[in-house]
Amino acid sequence: MEQVFQAEIVLEYLKKIHKSNKTFFILFDNDRKIHFFNDAFAKKFEIKDKNAFIGKKFDFIYQKDNAKIIPFSSLSINKILKGSQVYSYFPEDNKEYFYYVCTFYAGETKNIKFYYSILKEITDIEKKLMDQSIQALVIASQLKDNDTGNHVKRINAYSYCLSRHLYETRINLYPEIDEDFIDEISRVASMHDVGKIGTPDSILTKPARLTEEEFNIIKDHTLSGAFILSKMVGQMARDIALFHHERWDGSGYPYQLKEDQIPVCARIVSIADVYDALRMARIYKEAQNHKQVKKFILSEKGKHFDPHLVESFIEIEDKFEDIYEKLEDKTENLRFHKDLL
Ligand SMILES: [Fe+2]
Ligand SMILES: [Fe+2]
Repeated sequence: MEQVFQAEIVLEYLKKIHKSNKTFFILFDNDRKIHFFNDAFAKKFEIKDKNAFIGKKFDFIYQKDNAKIIPFSSLSINKILKGSQVYSYFPEDNKEYFYYVCTFYAGETKNIKFYYSILKEITDIEKKLMDQSIQALVIASQLKDNDTGNHVKRINAYSYCLSRHLYETRINLYPEIDEDFIDEISRVASMHDVGKIGTPDSILTKPARLTEEEFNIIKDHTLSGAFILSKMVGQMARDIALFHHERWDGSGYPYQLKEDQIPVCARIVSIADVYDALRMARIYKEAQNHKQVKKFILSEKGKHFDPHLVESFIEIEDKFEDIYEKLEDKTENLRFHKDLL
């Protein structure tokens, strides 16, 4: 085996990868026969009898090229060596996995060429990049708006609780909610107002009643948010930014959508955002306590809010109260909040 690898440094690196739980490593030859794989690989692909797997063909990796799926086995070695986004497929149990894979030439011995592939799950990398982008955007929008760091954290938390509750109790009414939906909304709800980056400061911080024209400019933060988010992340973030001011009865903005024309994610964030905005004190308004806000939300059942969401909110109202109290802003924020106007 020593002659197989070209350099000590590669061996050292591979030794580290062997022990990794998250990086998968596999060694194969030019016939694509498997010679070695690490424990993480065995665990991920549920390979119980390691010896039985050695000598099998490493053909279950496919390259995803738009909608066309090219079997790994039909790629030239040169193309494999470039490294690519692939997806793997186990025909035996119909399982699919998505990876970045990098394949390297390892060396030659007894006329057999060896290659090794390092696979990293795409979801981990993408999630990390997405979370960093979300943070950067939210921070940028907070420089302009009054929303504090805790406000956006609370919106994520309420949205998480409400969607999880819907998933557990009303899955027939909201079939689009699943674990991925819950995970996504609890990360992207915070970006509902990033469009305010495009709203002039003179309007956002105006210490007086807004004119109709100024209010129309504020409304554009939904369109700007959708424009920004359509450039960078999935559909849900864009939908929330665009539709979080729509109302169940069709009296919201920007499109006066009604009922289930409004995406569920935006209906959830709408209730979360209004709850939080009413709990906060502002120069122009006193903070309201939980009971008062609950009363208001109940009074808007079927008007501003989806009636089933209001019922769900009531069922988990303690959680909303808890989130607000645990993540309450310690320093008084004296800038204006016109989110509800
Ligand atoms: Fe907003
Ligand atoms: Fe907000």
